[in-house]
Amino acid sequence: MRKKVSIVGSGNVGATAAHWMASKELADVVLIDIIDGVPQGKGLDLLEAMPIEKRDSQVLGTQDYADTANSDIVVVTAGIPRKPGMSRDDLLHTNHKIMKDVVSKVVQHSPNCILIIVSNPLDAMAQAAYKMSGFPRHRVVGMAGVLDSSRFRTFIAAELKVSVENVTAFVLGGHGDTMVPLPRYSTVAGIPITELMDAATIERLVQRTRDGGAEIVKYLKTGSAYYAPSAAVTEMVEAILKDKKKILPCAAYLEGEYGIRGLFVGVPVKLGAKGIEQIIEIKLTHEEQAALNRSAEAVKELVGVIGV
Ligand code: LAC
Repeated sequence: MRKKVSIVGSGNVGATAAHWMASKELADVVLIDIIDGVPQGKGLDLLEAMPIEKRDSQVLGTQDYADTANSDIVVVTAGIPRKPGMSRDDLLHTNHKIMKDVVSKVVQHSPNCILIIVSNPLDAMAQAAYKMSGFPRHRVVGMAGVLDSSRFRTFIAAELKVSVENVTAFVLGGHGDTMVPLPRYSTVAGIPITELMDAATIERLVQRTRDGGAEIVKYLKTGSAYYAPSAAVTEMVEAILKDKKKILPCAAYLEGEYGIRGLFVGVPVKLGAKGIEQIIEIKLTHEEQAALNRSAEAVKELVGVIGV
């Protein structure tokens, strides 16, 4: 059986995710949007690139949820993006409304899918989707940590002039200003970066990571980042479809892990065919736990506003 991934939202993140997934031949891809013509046009355009790419992924653009039926994974990117000066939280009410509509249709057509939420504000939207879907928690996961870690890895590799392949990094917490990059668990060829850079340099890279989304918004002016976000969700899709059991930082619904209950927060999880197969609890210092708690509080405030 061929795998099927549907992507809701044919904007920059959705369309670029379709591009990465089809070019890696991970699955057949359905790109769906409420806008007439855009998903169809982008889908057909991408399909016509497949002979050149030597890939047999089918790509279909549509406005009809019936075309998404029985997807293995549904990625939700729908929503408005940030403009300069806006925080991710400013998108809350508009994107919550969109999420409600999308999730009810997704669940109706793909009741057994794994939902990956990408829309911002990420953790609150993941929580809204989880509650609305009625899915078990292992089948609803939010994309943020992979992106934030990739930004941190980029900056570490550039600073130390080493291959990005040598750099691993962990960023926990909510996808917002309170995110928690963990230098102790970020390494270059297995060596913690705390052994390789002084505290001031690390703090500078940490801050740039926290501001990573805003840095791109400031350049683009009319939208937010999409290459790295779509690559990040593609890594999660690949881990699930290939049952790789890959440990990645993702937003997951916590039920007591890290002392947090009833809330989506970014933590290390094991992604495999069942979705979130395990939430990995790593030992945190007092300061790291306090930072994670602060981040969780920020998410809690947002989910309180929309009552999910
Ligand atoms: C970012 C947005 C997409 O971090 O949240 O770029």
